[in-house]
Amino acid sequence: MFERSAHIYDLLYSFKDYEGEARDLAALIRDRNPAAGSLLDVACGTGVHLAHLRESFSDVTGVDLVEPMLEVARARLPGVPLTLGDMRTFELGRRFDAVTCLFSSVGYLPGADDLATAIERMASHLNPGGVLVVDGWIRPDRWREPGGVHALAETASEMAAARVVRSRRDGAMTILEMRYLIATLDGFETASETHVLTLFTDEEYRTAFDRAGLHPEVVPGPMGDDRDRYVAVVPE
Ligand SMILES: C[S@@+](CC[C@H](N)C(=O)[O-])C[C@H]1O[C@@H](n2cnc3c(N)ncnc32)[C@H](O)[C@@H]1O
Repeated sequence: MFERSAHIYDLLYSFKDYEGEARDLAALIRDRNPAAGSLLDVACGTGVHLAHLRESFSDVTGVDLVEPMLEVARARLPGVPLTLGDMRTFELGRRFDAVTCLFSSVGYLPGADDLATAIERMASHLNPGGVLVVDGWIRPDRWREPGGVHALAETASEMAAARVVRSRRDGAMTILEMRYLIATLDGFETASETHVLTLFTDEEYRTAFDRAGLHPEVVPGPMGDDRDRYVAVVPE
């Protein structure tokens, strides 16, 4: 899913305020666990949140499913443990004061059982008093029919990248067909990817947390009104 675009991911999302997001996230976690010192970012991608979060948490770790995304993260975060793994099955053999799963990464799970399994895996990596933060994909009632098209383009010193997307809904699934055009000093490159994300309902998120023994609150997330952020604290 991100195999063809990992090398331009940071460029395409350079408009995003990762530093501000990390600051808000650290405050949200510390409000609920003032002594939190360790953090695991599940579906960490290229590690930009972790790069900022390690200013607030002395002990940070990441997990992601896609090796090319982790390669970018490893170059950014020397010395930070980064593990290839699926959020439904990973086991790091230790616990953290906070676990995060950001930027709608759970949307890539194909069904409600996968969501519950992933939330259970994340919860099992939390210490008592630990904080779980999960950013959902678009709520089903906020998906706009008949889907749409969108373009994004960014330029860095020796690379320019454009991405056009065609998105549509099929039941609970959203299908995002991506086409990339990348220019470097050496020439042009094209690539395509199809991303399939699930429109989980609020009830499905809450059921997944309940199955892990957690009772989430919904707070405003960084991606606007269409997507919710679920936050829960493990009982002491
Ligand atoms: C939209 S990106 C978000 C990356 C990063 N969290 C960020 O905010 O930039 C979604 C990420 O989820 C990862 N991902 C998708 N399915 C996954 C799974 N089952 N287990 C672990 N990571 C997964 C992808 O590889 C990708 O890095």
